[in-house]
Amino acid sequence: MAASSAIKELNRDSTNWAKVVEEMVKLERKLFPKHESLARSFDDEVKRKNSGLLYAEVEGEIAGYVMFSWPSSLYASITKLAVKEKFRRQGHGEALLKAAIQRCRSRKIQRVCLHVDPTRTAAVGLYRKLGFQIDKLVECYYSSDRNAYRMYLDFDSD
Ligand SMILES: CC(C)(COP(=O)(O)OP(=O)(O)OC[C@H]1O[C@@H](n2cnc3c(N)ncnc32)[C@H](O)[C@@H]1OP(=O)(O)O)[C@@H](O)C(=O)NCCC(=O)NCCS
Repeated sequence: MAASSAIKELNRDSTNWAKVVEEMVKLERKLFPKHESLARSFDDEVKRKNSGLLYAEVEGEIAGYVMFSWPSSLYASITKLAVKEKFRRQGHGEALLKAAIQRCRSRKIQRVCLHVDPTRTAAVGLYRKLGFQIDKLVECYYSSDRNAYRMYLDFDSD
């Protein structure tokens, strides 16, 4: 990854909240179909209790972001992961996902789950690389003709 990149956390007290959310909403619109996009509800999603948002910044520009939530102490979900096209294949997606996993781990969560469209081969490859396993194929998860893999990563109890 480029030496000048950094993983940052966005929270309600962040002074750059509006600017960062605006940029992420633009990226959501570009990268995800309408029914899968959080563009319209992004602000609410980020403000939700028990959720986290990390973003990668390269020379002041947002390269990508990851959203996650922990509905209980038993498991967390990765709800979104995206990297801008021009920043892909430079390690940002992996760094973001690792950072989100680390945040979940530090909360003593035992399992991280996610859903991903099997045709998103880059994302499936990244999840597998970091140890996620496919639990099952959920038919019609995104829409009547789009399925999802449900994937999970279990932490060893220590
Ligand atoms: C998935 C995504 C976040 C990966 O981001 P990235 O910054 O390009 O990924 P990285 O450079 O960190 O790659 C890490 C690993 O992911 C996998 N990977 C990334 N791009 C890949 C590709 N085009 N094909 C296959 N595997 C790929 C590889 O395992 C790679 O490890 P390697 O470099 O050792 O081969 C990015 O492609 C993206 O935003 N896609 C569109 C949105 C999306 O599908 N989000 C996930 C569903 S919510």
